[in-house]
Amino acid sequence: MLKKVALSDNIFWVGVNDRHTERFENYMPIPHGVSYNAYLIEDEKNTVIDTVEVGFVEEYILKIKSILGEKQVDYLIVNHVEPDHSGSIKRLLCEYPQMRIVGNAKTIPMLQGFYGIGDHCIAMEEGATLSTGKHTLQFFTVPMVHWPESMVTYETSQQILFSNDAFGSFGALDGGVFDDETRFEFYEEEMRRYYSNIVGKYGVQVQKAMAKLNGVSINTIAPSHGPVWRENIAKVIQLYDRWSKCEAEEGVVIIYGTMYGNTARMADVIARSVAEEGIRNIRVFDVSKTHSSYLISEIWKYKGVILGSCAYNGVIYPPMGSLLKQLLLLMPKNRLLGLFGSMSWGGGGVRNLDEFAENIKWEVVAPSVEIKHAAQSEDEERLAEIGKAMAGAVRL
Ligand code: FEO
Repeated sequence: MLKKVALSDNIFWVGVNDRHTERFENYMPIPHGVSYNAYLIEDEKNTVIDTVEVGFVEEYILKIKSILGEKQVDYLIVNHVEPDHSGSIKRLLCEYPQMRIVGNAKTIPMLQGFYGIGDHCIAMEEGATLSTGKHTLQFFTVPMVHWPESMVTYETSQQILFSNDAFGSFGALDGGVFDDETRFEFYEEEMRRYYSNIVGKYGVQVQKAMAKLNGVSINTIAPSHGPVWRENIAKVIQLYDRWSKCEAEEGVVIIYGTMYGNTARMADVIARSVAEEGIRNIRVFDVSKTHSSYLISEIWKYKGVILGSCAYNGVIYPPMGSLLKQLLLLMPKNRLLGLFGSMSWGGGGVRNLDEFAENIKWEVVAPSVEIKHAAQSEDEERLAEIGKAMAGAVRL
């Protein structure tokens, strides 16, 4: 018999921890793992909210059975069809063939497409309710947070919002399932990395979703990744509000692409000049070393961004070019920009950075600086001007 993890009377966490997958979506590193949260309401109609990534299906079903015993699952709520949450539906249906699958009009074609599931499904209207006996569930669509069919489920008596990807974070649950059992700062960082890379493009839609739920009293936020929020609800809602509006903190992120260290040394000169102006939040990264998901998360946090690149075959250094492409896709707004770089003969790195500045439409705080070969002591003042201008511009 597994020990139950209860959110309230008869509502349980039946999620799993994934500490062996290297990269989430086969893309973003998850050195501290990730949880796939699912929930069970034990009631006249036993109801499961979301499933887990398919590799963890046996552990998930074991947790459900440890609570229900021989009783059946009557409803499965599918808040989101992305396979980290829907991957175990077919297996759950084998276990509980009478189970009805509850989603919305956009859920059902996706279930058909991914899994060939056409029967068993109920499409709920916006704001519609479903009684499981003592509990009532209400459904709100939140399109593009994270996919078009995404929705959240609200349990009315305990005021629990099952928010799926919204308010979710990377990081397995190392014993603590609830935020008051964990270290908030760790999950705040990993929630911002999840948000900025996965949902960040859809800030307008996040704002619409938050407006829709504005009048709903929330006692607990139960997302599908990371801790269940019951102590820091106002704080995480405020963070989501700020991130979706692209509001930033005082600070400067400096990211450089370098082959032999010349551009890296330029970055250090600029960073020093920012520090001399009194800015304390300064983060410097080598674009070849730190995965872009961390860089994007830092850019979501801080107001100032300074990018530097060497030239490579007449264009920008490829890892920096890749970061720029991702930023143009996500389009964070309201950042301040400084640019620098180096060249050996024909250049190209700084030219591409200047083109990026035009496309992303961030305010450029100082003229870009391009140094041929390696920066000399007489070049340092020009580089320091970028740092000084940025420090003045980001100060709140
Ligand atoms: Fe956690 Fe959009 O899936």
